Amino acid sequence: MPLSTSKLIHLLLLTVFLYGCSPDAKEIPDPFLYKKGRWYTEYQFSVGKTVFASNCAQCHGNAGQGLVDDWKTPNPDGTFPPPPLNGTAHSWHHSTEVLLETINNGGIPIGGNMPAFKEVLSDEEKLAAIAFFQNLWDDETYAKWLKINNSN
Ligand code: HEC
Repeated sequence: MPLSTSKLIHLLLLTVFLYGCSPDAKEIPDPFLYKKGRWYTEYQFSVGKTVFASNCAQCHGNAGQGLVDDWKTPNPDGTFPPPPLNGTAHSWHHSTEVLLETINNGGIPIGGNMPAFKEVLSDEEKLAAIAFFQNLWDDETYAKWLKINNSN
């Protein structure tokens, strides 16, 4: 027996109601969408997207999510997996100066695995890469970083 129009409307309303109220329907922000009101321009962000995709994503994930969930457990050789840069790990504890130092020197001099980018990327590209992964941070994380950065 075909559904009556009123039943269909009911069903439709129910769907809208459930969808609108379920936590799954919460809008998940697009990680690749430029966030306004921060230190970097949209241009820097878009350069950073490319720089990050070709130099950093193979270790830190295309959206800075890292490669493994458990990035705090050392590898068998005592080094650590690449941490996420999307704001869920420590990257927001570091001022721009310290972030640039990490990108320039990598982690090898301190017993880690990250290669040095000092001679590989220009200063503009390094800053753009920072802009890209900071753009993955929510506003609260960005605000916390801003405080740390400004007190340096
Ligand atoms: C070969 C893998 C690899 C590549 C490529 C790589 N990283 Fe890393 N990165 C790591 C690892 C591993 C660490 C942790 C320290 C270590 O072991 O050297 C790290 C640490 C970091 C940190 C410090 C994070 C924190 O929470 O303190 C930053 C920032 C960072 N990387 C940014 C970048 C950027 C930007 C690029 C691209 C320009 C990049 N990395 C490319 C592996 C990599």
